Amino acid sequence: MEKPTVLTGIKPTGHPHLGNYIGAIKPALEMAEDSSSQGIYFIADYHALNSVQDPQKYKEYTYEIAAAWLSLGLDPEKVVFYRQSDVPEILELHWILSCLTPKGLMNRAHAYKAKVEENNQEGNDPDAGVNMGLFTYPILMAADILLFNSNKVPVGKDQVQHVEIARDIAENFNRTFGDAIKLPEYVIEEETAVIPGLDGRKMSKSYGNTIPLFAEEKALKKLVNKIVTDSTPPEEPKDVKGSSLFTLYKEFATKEEMEAMREKYEIGIGWGQVKKEVFEVMNRELSEPRRKYYDFLNNKEEIDKILAKGAEQARQTAAAQLKRIKEMIGC
Ligand code: TRP
Repeated sequence: MEKPTVLTGIKPTGHPHLGNYIGAIKPALEMAEDSSSQGIYFIADYHALNSVQDPQKYKEYTYEIAAAWLSLGLDPEKVVFYRQSDVPEILELHWILSCLTPKGLMNRAHAYKAKVEENNQEGNDPDAGVNMGLFTYPILMAADILLFNSNKVPVGKDQVQHVEIARDIAENFNRTFGDAIKLPEYVIEEETAVIPGLDGRKMSKSYGNTIPLFAEEKALKKLVNKIVTDSTPPEEPKDVKGSSLFTLYKEFATKEEMEAMREKYEIGIGWGQVKKEVFEVMNRELSEPRRKYYDFLNNKEEIDKILAKGAEQARQTAAAQLKRIKEMIGC
């Protein structure tokens, strides 16, 4: 039996932050350790192009995301790791799938619909600010997934609909031309907590409340100190539930440390002390990856080499599947 393929893409739209790490990178890395499946991880740079249109940033984010994954332990010997734009077969399949995708399916995609609703509310043209890349985003994502006959696609909740669309498109193909494409399933990381940002809201680039994943020690300390807390005095018992600091602590501390912290909350501990301990566990866990991260960024040729090798592997599989698909459609 062939190993099932687990595939996921990471969109390089900004500097990697703690929320990305805890919510996406960490669970995906754990999955990459599972030797009963074949992992495929790629940087979805063409998906970023509909919003990142500054060549400097486009390059920088791509390298940063690659360096982040590699420094946190993604092993390119065990998984296939490449940059989407290095695998042109994806784009060829994208066109083929476009011709099998009803426009109405795209009209119903969340990201596009949200943009149209926003435009309507503001009295703008419904399609203001919508490029075709945003509109057909789910088809490119379907091509990413279907070209590799992926069985499982780990994604955040916001991407579930896209995987369902990929399934619909695969079914359209199979119905029209015969069975060639495996129907993918999404896997949601149910357990991941909402990671709070500096202001207590969900950590997100759009709220400007992020903590950069590889902030240098001093900067990291400063940022942790900035996390908002209430005005409960030190000696008063505190609730771990809903505490941003505890949520972050939990992600980096050992089980014993976490239990000890829980007790301290019950007895009463000052926020200043909690912050100090949050910083300490974070820094302990991140200092080694941080060192590797900057080493990678100072040695981009190494990243290029790794991605080139990954693309070569990916293209072998991709070319075989594309050939089969092209034969089936008669070209
Ligand atoms: N759209 C995904 C996101 O924004 C990234 C992505 C692109 C992806 N292609 C994919 C995820 C294929 C899983 C499978 O996060």
